[in-house]
Amino acid sequence: MAQLAYINKIGQFADCEVTLRGWLYNKRSSGKIHFLQVRDGTGIIQCVISRDDVSVESFEVAKKLTQESSLSITGIVHADKRAPSGYELQVTSLEEVALAAEYPIAPKEHGVGFLMDHRHLWLRSRRQAIIMRVRSSLVKAIRDYLDERGFTLLDAPIFTPNACEGTTTLFETNYFDRRAYLTQSGQLYMEAGAMAFGRVYCFGPTFRAEKSKTRRHLTEFWMVEPEVAFFDLDDDMDLMEDFVVTLVARLLDKHRKEIEELERDVTALEQVQKPFPRIRYDEAVEILKRKGVDFQWGGDFGGEDETLLSEEFDRPFMVHRFPMQCKAFYMKRDPENPKLSLSVDMLAPEGKGEIIGGGQREDDLATLEKSITQHKLPKEAFAWFVDLRRYGSVPHAGFGLGVERFLGWICGLHHVRETIPFPRLMDRLQP
Ligand code: 4AD
Ligand code: MG
Repeated sequence: MAQLAYINKIGQFADCEVTLRGWLYNKRSSGKIHFLQVRDGTGIIQCVISRDDVSVESFEVAKKLTQESSLSITGIVHADKRAPSGYELQVTSLEEVALAAEYPIAPKEHGVGFLMDHRHLWLRSRRQAIIMRVRSSLVKAIRDYLDERGFTLLDAPIFTPNACEGTTTLFETNYFDRRAYLTQSGQLYMEAGAMAFGRVYCFGPTFRAEKSKTRRHLTEFWMVEPEVAFFDLDDDMDLMEDFVVTLVARLLDKHRKEIEELERDVTALEQVQKPFPRIRYDEAVEILKRKGVDFQWGGDFGGEDETLLSEEFDRPFMVHRFPMQCKAFYMKRDPENPKLSLSVDMLAPEGKGEIIGGGQREDDLATLEKSITQHKLPKEAFAWFVDLRRYGSVPHAGFGLGVERFLGWICGLHHVRETIPFPRLMDRLQP
């Protein structure tokens, strides 16, 4: 065995002999020569094996290897401008590790249902691998951004005694002899954290029993939720804007070529520069009416409305001051108009819809207690939350960014199901 190498670092070994370990992605043969597309998890490279260059055994292995068989392959690295990886391997020997049975995902078109049933295998495909690598970088970029700006990571619990985002999408579970819910958002805990540490965030899975089958809803999704003491709505919007600009730039910097490979027009992402338009809910309603939508003031925007709105802008934009009546109990009222809340949503352009939801929180004890009663929420479950207003309450704000929605927009995907390794949807719990 020669020096072990990975495909994404193969350039360091030009003209040297290396051994790669991986799987057979695809194969073309012409009697005396086999062209093996080999993947190793970091990339794909073409390996050329000629009968004249290798032992009879190696050539026989090449002949019989089936798609996704595992292998160990040795050869000389040659620069090749035409190759996607920039290099090709001139094979000197090939060994089989395990021969694969007939692989269900052949290199042809398959329906999404079939691919989703085989998600455990589908993840091996080039396109899915790119999306997952961008996801991995996104998670790191999110963490780096907040860590570098003085935020403390504070993990929120998954089992919770109460709702955060309305009682209609709660997943209920037994908790010994009591009832618990899977968390919809870590926000309430982050409010406690902001009072303890000033700037905090949580980052983890959240759950919503979404009974709708849309291309934007998962029942389990990942959310990052920063929360900051002494922040008002404007501070919150500034942070959201800077966060998104920075994340997009980082992903473009690291993955431009791969994102292009997904046939995503990256010029649209290059437009993601400050300032983002900030419009009031009332203005958004005007836009919808102008576009012929029969929209009732007071309601939240539906998927279609979001799509129509986002067609108006060439970059993400923020809609602020939604009516109190369509927002959660913790929202602070706009002192200039008590019908409105100091809330904000950020919507992605290109019809991708809401990627961030947030706002300034109610910090007055009596007002919050009243709101909990008005929303018919169980007072006892929120006693600790209300307590935060009893001991040194301060203005504070935060937001939640949904990783899958954000990634779907970055990668130009039609449906969020491809943005998470093993999606959970109303009708999907497998694999
Ligand atoms: O707007 P949401 O419901 O806001 C909250 O949960 C706040 N408590 C966050 C906070 O202020 N700390 O959700 C925030 C984001 C949405 O903008 C969207 O990106 C994503 O979470 N999201 C979903 N993503 C996938 N599937 C779903 N069912 C989602 N529901 C929300
Ligand atoms: Mg929302």
